[in-house]
Order: sequence, then structure tokens, then C-alpha cells
Amino acid sequence: MPPDGALIADSPAADTQPGDTQPGDTQRGDTPRSDTQPGDTPRGDTPRSDTQRPDRPSIIAFVGDQATETALREGLLEAVPQGFEIRRGTVRVAMAALHKMPTPHTLIVDVSGEDQPLSALSDLSDVVEPDVRVLVIGDRDDLNFYRQVTRGLGVAEYLFQPLLRDMVARYFGPLIMRHDPVTEGVQGGRVVTITGARGGTGASTIAANLAWHFGVEARRHTVLLDADLYCGTAAMLLGAKTGAGLRTALEAPDRIDELFVERAAQPVSKRLHVLAGEEKLTDTVSYSPNAAARLLDALRRRYNFVVIDVPCSALPLHRELLMLAHQRVVVMDPTLASVRDTLRLMALPNGPMQPRRSVLVLNRDNLPGGLTRRQLEEGLKMKPDVAIPNLPKVVGHAASMGEPAMAARGGFRTGMMQLVREVAFVRLLDSGAPGSAPATGKAGRLRRLLGLTS
Ligand SMILES: Nc1ncnc2c1ncn2[C@@H]1O[C@H](COP(=O)(O)OP(=O)(O)O)[C@@H](O)[C@H]1O
Ligand SMILES: [Mg+2]
Repeated sequence: MPPDGALIADSPAADTQPGDTQPGDTQRGDTPRSDTQPGDTPRGDTPRSDTQRPDRPSIIAFVGDQATETALREGLLEAVPQGFEIRRGTVRVAMAALHKMPTPHTLIVDVSGEDQPLSALSDLSDVVEPDVRVLVIGDRDDLNFYRQVTRGLGVAEYLFQPLLRDMVARYFGPLIMRHDPVTEGVQGGRVVTITGARGGTGASTIAANLAWHFGVEARRHTVLLDADLYCGTAAMLLGAKTGAGLRTALEAPDRIDELFVERAAQPVSKRLHVLAGEEKLTDTVSYSPNAAARLLDALRRRYNFVVIDVPCSALPLHRELLMLAHQRVVVMDPTLASVRDTLRLMALPNGPMQPRRSVLVLNRDNLPGGLTRRQLEEGLKMKPDVAIPNLPKVVGHAASMGEPAMAARGGFRTGMMQLVREVAFVRLLDSGAPGSAPATGKAGRLRRLLGLTS
């Protein structure tokens, strides 16, 4: 337990009036990425420091009252002699502000008076870049709470009210003075892979739209990674650029660091970036073993969501990405060949970070001449988790314009939103367990066609 004295305020939250002050989140927008900033540091071999990402403020605090503000300012005088920005507001106010602005390297929030401080802090972690150093002030003084906040949520330090200058100097000061990047306690972003049972099922379309939703609509820091380095379409679908960075990362993983990721990922919008290549068909990319793990480590520190378009192949890169995901998504269309390959993909063993099976998306539902839903479910012996209708005009038009098809209301968006709910949260699925659909004579024939005996 860090605080010196068990000085518990009688009514710690009494003067916390979240509504009576301006949240102050209007002062600055999400500044553009560093490559468009005037006065940017050269994107070369800059030493690792807070100046690496000029768009990220060094430190910002959100506190509930004047006394806390004073203790914080005075306590950190030595650590931050130049001063820093302190805004008045709850953790919810902090969240609203951080929705719109770059994540500081160090964030101080005050959960005093909060009914559910743990869930508030957990919600906050969704809108900030995962490698932020979070220091928390609150009004609970029990050890259990301290443990949950620090070990459970990855908060660097917790101090309880009434906040005293000396406590701040002693426990927050050294953490702030350390300019090295946060290496411990980073929970990291969520990795979702999208794989088509076959080419043409719409996997890339779905990956691009999912990333667009997370990055643009939900304003989570998101990167779309295209694992097809030769003919991938992820960048094209979002109107982004491809580059040589991804290949370099996979061939020379030692070069992957925060700055590398920053340079290699191309912006689509402030919180949506794309990492994709367009290698010559005559070139061989010499994939270095474990490069995928190294790259994902770096990406997970920077982004809340890493969406990966992974082709169905036996290449080591693709196999490793599927194993490293938190959630896999398999996309099929209503064809016999798709049913066969879906069964093979669904049968792959789960990776160490996958508590549940792949989410199955049936795309181009009602495709003229395709299998009926009944035939399909009988062949699969399960129901798809998400169905997206066949909408060639809507999807085709969007693809030609380099726009996300889900921006418009309609069947495509409805299906995509269902997928968002399936992949954004860890939750056990109980429906669709193999064997849930009854096998009829027809299914038997279908499964025999696929070479399946049961
Ligand atoms: N729901 C849909 N309805 C109609 N056409 C679709 C749908 N989803 C994708 N498509 C189209 O199918 C084609 C293949 O999509 P793509 O995303 O490249 O598939 P994959 O990555 O699986 O090969 C594209 O022309 C795309 O516009
Ligand atoms: Mg594709």
C-alpha cells in the first residue's frame, strides 16, 4: 500500500461536482499525426523520449477539486518544473476529452466519488493508446482495491484522498521522471483476424469495414494490417497507401519499435491506420520466424484494435498470425467449397489467447444460385454467428469509391454491427456448438460430397 498515512477524508467526494466545471475538452482536437506536424522531429534515429511523438502531450491530469489540483501541482514541481495541464473533471470527463485528443504519455485521473471506479478505469483504457502510463487518485483506501487497480488494470500507481504534496512527490514523481517507455502493465490492444474460407468471400471487405468502424465511428486507436504482402486489398479499400515498412518488419524484426510502427502505418483518419505492402510478384519476402509476434507486440502497445486480414494459407506468417489472435473471424459465402474450407478453418486449434472459437460470418447470404441457409447449416452442423446479405450494388459501389460500405444504413451495416458486437468483447458463445443442427438425409449427402462421414 503506497500512501504514507491512512488519512481518510470524511467525505472525500463532497466537493467533487463533475457538472459544475467545463470539461475543457474543447481546447484541442486530435492533432494530426506527427508526419504532418510543423516542427516535427526528424523521423530518423531520434533518441527514445517523450518527443518521439510530438502530437502526444507529456502529461495531463483530470482532478475533482482544487485541493487535489494544488497537491498535484506542488508535489510534481520537481518532476515537471515546466508545469503541466490540469483539468477539472471526473474520469468520465477525462474519457470524453481523450476521445478527441491524442493520448498523453502520462495520464492522471481522479476516481474519487465514482460509484464504479474499476469499470470507469476499464472504459477509459478503451479510448487511450494502450502504452499510456496511468496514475490514479481515489477515495478508497483498501488493499484489495489497490491491487485491482494496479495489477488488474495496469495502473502504474494509486494514491488515496486527501492527496498530500509529499505523497505525490514520493510516489508519482519518480514514475513521471522516468522517460523510458512503459513496459510493464500494458494490457495492449485486441487482435482480431479475418480470414476468408476461400478467395472472394468478402473477407477483405469485412476486415476493412470492421477497422473503419473501430477507428472512425468508435474512435478507438485502430490499425488494419494486411497480411497479403503481394496482392492485398486492405489499403485500396480504405483509400490508404501501401509501403515497404511491413516487409521490413517481417524480414528484420529487430528494427521494430514504436517509431518504426509510427512511420510504417499509413493514416486513413486520425485513429485509423493501415499497414500494408505491395511487393513485386517476382520478389520473395524472407519471413523471419517470430516476426509476427514481435510486430503484434509493438502494434498492441499503440492501438486498441489490431484488425488483420489473413488469407487462408499454410504460410508461416499466416499460421502465426492466426495463433496470436485474441479472436478469429472466418468469412464464408453460401457455396459448397466455402462450407468445406470453413469446416477446416473452424477445426484449427485455438491459440493461447483465444478463449472461444472463431466467429463465423456468412457473407453474401441469399446469393443467387448459392446454398440455402438450411443446406448450409446442415453441412456445417452449426449456424453462422453473423449473416450479411448479398448486396453487390452497395458493396461494389463503396469498393470502387474507396469508401466503407458500412457507412450507409442498410443490411450490410446491420450485419457488420452484429460482427462488431461479437468481436469487440470477450464473451462466451453458447450457440452454434457443433452438432446443434439436426442431420437430415440431404445433409448427409452434402457432407458426403465434402468427404465428411458424420
Ligand atoms: N455482402 C456482399 N455483397 C455483395 N458483394 C460483396 C459483399 N461482400 C463482398 N463483396 C464483393 O465480393 C468481392 C470480393 O470481396 P473481397 O473482400 O475482396 O473478398 P476476399 O478478400 O475474401 O477475397 C468484391 O468485389 C466485393 O465487393
Ligand atoms: Mg482479400
